[in-house]
Amino acid sequence: MKTKSPTSVSTRRDFIQKSALAGAGFMIMPSGSLFGAGAASNRLNIALIGSYGRAKAHYGTLHKENVVAICDVSQTNLAFAMKEFPKAKVYSDWRKCLDHPGIDAVLCCTPDHHHAFISNWALNRDLHIYMEKPLGITVNEARTVRETYLTKKGKLATQVGMQRHAYDNFSRLREMIHDGAIGNLKDVHVWGNRKIPKPGYLPAAGTPPDSLNYDLWLGPSPEHPYNPGYFISSLGPGSGCLSWNMYWDFGIGQMGDMGSHTMDLVWNVIDARLPDSVKSTSSEAFNPDVTPVELTCTYMFPKNDWREKIRVIWYQGGAMPKSPSKWLDLNKIGHGAMFKGDKGFVIADFKNRMLYPSGKDVDLTYYHPRGKDLVAPSMGNFQEQWTKACKSGDPSATACNFEYSANMIETMCLGLAAFRAGGSLDYDSVHGQFTNNAAANQYLTKSYRSGWTMNG
Ligand SMILES: NC(=O)c1ccc[n+]([C@@H]2O[C@H](COP(=O)([O-])OP(=O)(O)OC[C@H]3O[C@@H](n4cnc5c(N)ncnc54)[C@H](O)[C@@H]3O)[C@@H](O)[C@H]2O)c1
Repeated sequence: MKTKSPTSVSTRRDFIQKSALAGAGFMIMPSGSLFGAGAASNRLNIALIGSYGRAKAHYGTLHKENVVAICDVSQTNLAFAMKEFPKAKVYSDWRKCLDHPGIDAVLCCTPDHHHAFISNWALNRDLHIYMEKPLGITVNEARTVRETYLTKKGKLATQVGMQRHAYDNFSRLREMIHDGAIGNLKDVHVWGNRKIPKPGYLPAAGTPPDSLNYDLWLGPSPEHPYNPGYFISSLGPGSGCLSWNMYWDFGIGQMGDMGSHTMDLVWNVIDARLPDSVKSTSSEAFNPDVTPVELTCTYMFPKNDWREKIRVIWYQGGAMPKSPSKWLDLNKIGHGAMFKGDKGFVIADFKNRMLYPSGKDVDLTYYHPRGKDLVAPSMGNFQEQWTKACKSGDPSATACNFEYSANMIETMCLGLAAFRAGGSLDYDSVHGQFTNNAAANQYLTKSYRSGWTMNG
């Protein structure tokens, strides 16, 4: 039985009680529902925003909870989702959906240009949130979401949709490198080969179908005329994001697309926060409409408590690192990473890894693989790690929370800013500013349509 919807003020008050009650073996969610042993209900009240396309991959998890509200700008897609969750109330504007009474949590699968907005709005309303990747599309968006999240870290469970993180290979890679398989870590090379070249924004073509609220689809993005090419798949089967994510106002190309997954392979190992310098190169000139296909970004990260400073190099769209051996054709790995230490290399993709000792005295005596009892257990279902964290009283117990993920995507966006600015940029990560090129700071943010507030 679900507790009746409280007012928003009492919701927040109930929520604060959660920490105190957790020790007593049960807790109260924002909606007022009870969780834990003896609780009448163990289901979250969830609002699903962006209901088709990628959202279908979450239907299984959502069926284990209560989907009480669904928001989509496409009536066609909404109708599809309503067959799955017929009891939900429907919305087309996520700003209204987030005020649906009694929701505990939000799962969001909209296009990328809404992500930072919806993340902030949800956190500001004390709602747990699972956000599809990428968490934001500018440095400023990433920083704002992280800042909002850090004020709620002990209360709200967050997860960014980097679900490959649940593959055991992620933990094994981390363990190998931390246990000394390649000696001292020096460089990391990480790449993706997906290419979606586009000349520029699409020209005006026709009018939006009655079933689509194009104005809300644009949302905070600056105005662009309608063209069905942006919707090749979202009004039908397939993955719609590849129709719009390379345009600056809607996404960040491969940085946010496959880059979110592939950089995660590295991020999970290196315990980095933010780089202190970045330099990008490309064979392409800057195009104000579309993100580059081919790009190389070199980041320097300061040392931490287990390693010296390291260099991380991101390659996309055909740019590739040099192979350490003529036996190894790195081009056969579409999306992968290569960790270089002073005793060799570990090369990996999402599910596989190989150790290549190289250099002097590489007898592996320096490598001390941890005992079985210290190997990280399997994570289990990635989405359900989040739903469990929403209920458990340990809300930060998710692998890709908004601090981890904001740091990662801020780093990626810094590479794009450096591509636009040119040259090598020194970055003050505390203040979020380039220190040796003031003009480059304009690329840390972007303009939005009036009437849309990112941190509302
Ligand atoms: N984690 C992964 O492996 C993975 C895979 C594919 C896509 N994604 C991410 O999922 C997101 C959605 O991708 P997609 O391919 O499903 O895109 P899509 O264009 O098909 O859109 C998804 C849904 O959101 C709806 N939508 C669009 N604008 C909206 C708005 N303002 N409010 C509410 N609903 C809105 C669309 O009508 C559609 O139903 C992207 O951010 C993408 O990066 C993640």
